[in-house]
Amino acid sequence: MTRAAIGVGMVGYAFMGRAHSQAWRNVGRFFDVPAEPRLAAICGRDEAATQAAADRLGWAAAELDWRRLVERDDVDIVDVCTPGDTHAAIAVAALEAGKHVLCEKPLANTLDEAEAMAAAAAAAPAARTMVAFNYRRVPAVALIRSLVAEGRLGEIRHVRARYLQDWPLDPEFPLLWRFDREQAGTGAIGDLASHIVDLAQHLAGRPIAEVTALTETFIRERPLPSGDGRGPVTVDDAALFLARLEGGAVATFEVSRLAPGHRNGLWIELNGSRGSVTFDLERLNEIELYEAGAGAPAEGFRRTLVTEPEHPYAGAWWPPGHILGWEHTFVHEVRDLLDAIGSGAPAEPDFASGLQVQRVLDAVVRSARTRRWETTAPDGAQPREGSVQ
Ligand SMILES: NC(=O)c1ccc[n+]([C@@H]2O[C@H](COP(=O)([O-])OP(=O)(O)OC[C@H]3O[C@@H](n4cnc5c(N)ncnc54)[C@H](O)[C@@H]3O)[C@@H](O)[C@H]2O)c1
Repeated sequence: MTRAAIGVGMVGYAFMGRAHSQAWRNVGRFFDVPAEPRLAAICGRDEAATQAAADRLGWAAAELDWRRLVERDDVDIVDVCTPGDTHAAIAVAALEAGKHVLCEKPLANTLDEAEAMAAAAAAAPAARTMVAFNYRRVPAVALIRSLVAEGRLGEIRHVRARYLQDWPLDPEFPLLWRFDREQAGTGAIGDLASHIVDLAQHLAGRPIAEVTALTETFIRERPLPSGDGRGPVTVDDAALFLARLEGGAVATFEVSRLAPGHRNGLWIELNGSRGSVTFDLERLNEIELYEAGAGAPAEGFRRTLVTEPEHPYAGAWWPPGHILGWEHTFVHEVRDLLDAIGSGAPAEPDFASGLQVQRVLDAVVRSARTRRWETTAPDGAQPREGSVQ
C-alpha cells in the first residue's frame, strides 16, 4: 500500500539542517508513519551553497528567500533550522500560511517573540507545532518519563541537571552568531539551558515557578570571522541557577561552554520519595535506576540498557543491545510530529510548551541582573503562597 505524501520545506541547511534532513529521509524507512515526507525544498541565502546542500541532502528544490518557501503549495510542514533571530518571523508566516511548523530550540530569542509565536499557533488550531527539544526522544529519557508518570520514583523532590560543552575554549575561536546577542539572544542559556529546563519540566511533569541565577562571560572578545580584528562577546558563557517547581520539587542547573573535556555532557538526575534515576547523554542507551526497598545486599543503583523492543522507539530499530545514537533522536522527533499531524492530537512539546521554557530562560536572565528570585509567571506575579512550598 502506498502512503500519502506530505511536503516538507526546511530553512537552514548547516548543523541542524543536516540532522533534520537525515531524519526526514529515514523516518519512513523505520517507522510506520501516516504520511511519507517528501523533501520538497530547502532554503538558504547563497545560491551555489544552497543548491549544493539540496543535492547532497536530498531536497528536490532550492529557495533563496524563506517567504517563497513558506508559500509553496508543495510544502505542508516548515522546518526552521536557522539561528534564533529568524525563528519568530518564519514560524509566524508559516502558521499564517496554514503550515505545520517544526522549530529548532530555543523557541525564540526573546519572550515577546515566543509569545507572538504561541499566539500564532493558537490562532491556527489545524496546524501542529513542535519545538525541537530532541533529547526528550532519547529512548532512555522517554523511559524515565514513563517511570516517573507511573509513580515508580514516588513524589519527585529533586531535579539536578547540567549541560557542559567546551567547543569555544580557545579564545581565538571566531565570533560566530552564537556569541552575538542580536542573533542568538543568549549564550549557554538559550543554547544549553533550554534543553535541560525542558527535560526537567517534562520529566518531573511540573513547570518551574521561580529561579535565582548567576551568569558569567569569561572570554569577552573574539576574532571576527572575517579575520579583520576582534569584536565583543555579548552573551553568557555559563549560567548557574536554582529553581522551585510547582508542587514542591527543587532543582539545580549548571550550563557552560567552557568546561574542558565535556564535549556534549548533558546529565540529569531525579530523586523521588521512593527512588532515583540518572541519565548521561554520553551513555545515552542507559539509565541508572535506584528503587528503595530492595534490601541489603542487593540495594543500589542498577544499570538498564534501554534497547529492548518494549522500550520507547527502540523496537523500530535493531535487535536488543544494538545501540542507538544522537541522530536517532531527530528521527523520533519527526515521527512524533507526523503522528500528531495524522491523528490531530497535539504535538509535544508544542509552541505553548516552548513558551513556558522561554519564560524560565527569561527569568534566569532577569535574576542574573537583579540578583533576586524571579518568577516565571506571565504577569510577573510572585508564586502564590504555598504553591511552591
Ligand atoms: N536540537 C539541538 O540539539 C540543536 C543543536 C544545535 C543547534 N540547535 C538550534 O538550531 C538552530 C540552528 O543552529 P545550527 O547549529 O544549525 O546553526 P548553523 O549556523 O550551523 O546553521 C544555520 C543555518 O541557517 C541559515 N540561515 C541563517 N539565516 C538565514 C535566513 N535569513 N534565511 C535562510 N537561511 C538562513 C544559514 O545559512 C545556515 O544554513 C538554532 O536555533 C540552534 O539553537 C539545536
